[in-house]
Amino acid sequence: MTTPSIAPEAFRAFEHEGWQKVSQRYHHAFASLTSQAVVPLLDAAEVSAGVRVLDVAAGPGYVAGVAADRGAEVIGIDFSQAMVAAARRHYPKGDFREGDAEDLPFGAAVFDAVVMNFGLLHLGRPEWALAEAHRVLRPGGKYAFTVWARPEEAIGFEIVLNAIHAHGKVDVGLPQGPSFFRFSDAGECHRTLLAAGFVSPAVDTIPQTWRLSTPDVLFENMLEGTVRTAGLLRAQTAEARDTIRASIHQTMLKYTRGNAIEIPMPAVLASAKKP
Ligand SMILES: C[S@@+](CC[C@H](N)C(=O)[O-])C[C@H]1O[C@@H](n2cnc3c(N)ncnc32)[C@H](O)[C@@H]1O
Repeated sequence: MTTPSIAPEAFRAFEHEGWQKVSQRYHHAFASLTSQAVVPLLDAAEVSAGVRVLDVAAGPGYVAGVAADRGAEVIGIDFSQAMVAAARRHYPKGDFREGDAEDLPFGAAVFDAVVMNFGLLHLGRPEWALAEAHRVLRPGGKYAFTVWARPEEAIGFEIVLNAIHAHGKVDVGLPQGPSFFRFSDAGECHRTLLAAGFVSPAVDTIPQTWRLSTPDVLFENMLEGTVRTAGLLRAQTAEARDTIRASIHQTMLKYTRGNAIEIPMPAVLASAKKP
């Protein structure tokens, strides 16, 4: 089987259009989950009072909000105007700006720390984002990012992807981006960080649990609050999508805990230093 070649510009346009549309639903669906990584992420980047920190792909602003509570001087950037507006609503005192992770609108060596919570897996050119983070960091500055653990561990993705494989099509002609789980691999994190000029890479797993009110919420969150996975679900026939939804519902029942559903959704946390 040949690996389809990545189309970074088309992929970026697809992601941008998607995030513009889902900012509210993303917040509703994912705030309780991606916020679980914020404290370990900021700790890994050594963010404390007075530290100048850039939160890249800030989304609704969870990381920047906690960094500001620590007394850091924080700027959040995101390429989606809708996400920037959401972050400003949630954190009216925050400094949130439109900007591209792959082409940061800042000079060299102006930050002590750069962080990215669940952003790298959405980029067509993640190496460019690492090079940009490296450029805007001062020597000795810290970089840290999170991504999802591989689907066998971040069960929500396994459940949805297995259902699509079983009842639908995976090759649906979406603009090709890098593998969603590329940086779930610790070795790949190490290699890419070192290639970008960072030193002392460290990779950990953050245990996270997604608590959902009903067995249908996983499908709804993925359909309404994501971009790539939503694209895959939307590209199915209505009949296949209904079967996929029913299959996900059935699997989710196994994760019933009391009156809710709880699934493991660990993150991979990678960090490194600019020499
Ligand atoms: C999964 S959300 C993560 C949001 C937030 N960091 C969190 O902790 O929940 C991904 C975010 O990356 C942003 N994004 C994707 N590609 C980007 C790019 N090239 N430059 C800047 N932001 C980007 C999206 O607009 C979206 O807000």
